[in-house]
Amino acid sequence: MKKIINEMKLRLPAVGVNEAVARSCICAFVAELNPTVEELGDLRLAVSEAVTNCIVHAYRDSLPTDRNANIYISVRLYDSREVSVEISDNGCGIEDVAKAREPMYTSTVGCERCGMGFLVMESFMDSLSVKSTPGKGTTVLMRKIFKP
Ligand SMILES: Nc1ncnc2c1ncn2[C@@H]1O[C@H](COP(=O)(O)OP(=O)(O)O)[C@@H](O)[C@H]1O
Ligand SMILES: [Mg+2]
Repeated sequence: MKKIINEMKLRLPAVGVNEAVARSCICAFVAELNPTVEELGDLRLAVSEAVTNCIVHAYRDSLPTDRNANIYISVRLYDSREVSVEISDNGCGIEDVAKAREPMYTSTVGCERCGMGFLVMESFMDSLSVKSTPGKGTTVLMRKIFKP
């Protein structure tokens, strides 16, 4: 049985500046496991996509001043050199998760390089699960195992 060796929880307002904040905090937190530069880079990319989705999509119908528009992040380190990152929001949710996960699918109109976020998360992490309830919010759970 793998054991949790450290745990971090963060709550950040869903505003642009917090994409970099979330990314940096998570990367600092996993340093304990001594990941390679490449592993850290993979994690940064995946976290960045998940957090950006909370900022760009989750609260698209809310006023920018909405104090309840938050990103909730929970990170766990395991003695098996695994990191789990859960990123959730209380936003609009996703009607069709399978469709949203398709490469090139985006609900953003007129955006050329969009629709690759979930693909990036899937490619750069070892596992990805997406749970969403329309009107309630979305939870993305990603795992990565660092090399011994
Ligand atoms: N947290 C979220 N809340 C609501 N909708 C989301 C969320 N994350 C993703 N989506 C939906 O899934 C689609 C695909 O996401 P993604 O692959 O990151 O592409 P992009 O963000 O470039 O549109 C988004 O266009 C959006 O409709
Ligand atoms: Mg995206």
